[in-house]
Amino acid sequence: MRGENAIITGGARGIGESIARLLAKMGAAVIIWDVLEDQAKAAAAAIAKDIGVKTLGSAVDVTKAASVDTALDAAMKEFGKIDILVNNAGVTRDGLLIRMKEEDWDLVLAINLKGVWICTKAVGKVMLKARKGAIVNIASVVGVMGNAGQANYSASKAGVIGLTKTSAREFAQRGVRVNAVAPGYIRTAMTDKLSDEQRGRLRNMIPMGDLGTPDDVADAVAFLASDAAKYITGQTLNIDGGMVM
Ligand SMILES: NC(=O)c1ccc[n+]([C@@H]2O[C@H](COP(=O)([O-])OP(=O)(O)OC[C@H]3O[C@@H](n4cnc5c(N)ncnc54)[C@H](O)[C@@H]3O)[C@@H](O)[C@H]2O)c1
Repeated sequence: MRGENAIITGGARGIGESIARLLAKMGAAVIIWDVLEDQAKAAAAAIAKDIGVKTLGSAVDVTKAASVDTALDAAMKEFGKIDILVNNAGVTRDGLLIRMKEEDWDLVLAINLKGVWICTKAVGKVMLKARKGAIVNIASVVGVMGNAGQANYSASKAGVIGLTKTSAREFAQRGVRVNAVAPGYIRTAMTDKLSDEQRGRLRNMIPMGDLGTPDDVADAVAFLASDAAKYITGQTLNIDGGMVM
């Protein structure tokens, strides 16, 4: 990926940071967009120091087209082109469907689904013009299987899978590939909130018997973003220890 530039949304920590680090190790310059401005800048600076690639960390809210456009202008001025976009920013606001508050539904759909559309629209335009690009969307196994207590989250992630297929079809003839990964349960701040009992129950649902790591997800994203996947588009790759078969 030497000479390529990659944007990772929600890259300040967790899975996004692992993806940014791996793409940097593969030679790409990385641009981290996150609502957590200080953490985005710190993660970008740490990657530059550890790996020696050019990086940029910016405050971006993926639900706001104006915020994305401003950050994209800044990235284009600094880097000149964008080769890879990883739509990773995402949140949960769990609760049973009949008790779920409308604001929790709206927030999760806005960040996890509308945010992917906003970033794909803005960065996709640049890629289509260049006739080159790879977009990888971070969906979830619950977008495929459903999950009690996650009506908003599972709907948003199922939406991401549909959006991946449509953008892949619209962009295919102009050199831009769009794929998704659907992680199962991965050890991050998002799953640290689970109780020991919930984690025990999860382990029983995973054929491989344990939670995954952010690096497991990053490896699959790097593959789909690389030329090794140059004839693959519109696919969703499950990274879940065998939960979905
Ligand atoms: N952890 C898991 O088990 C798991 C499983 C399946 C899918 N995922 C998905 O992986 C992705 C990363 O999750 P994670 O576990 O690393 O979570 P995380 O909370 O550690 O990281 C998410 C990042 O997104 C950022 N973010 C939130 N709202 C944003 C916004 N409006 N604009 C820009 N950035 C924003 C956060 O600040 C944070 O840095 C998410 O899309 C999540 O749904 C996680």
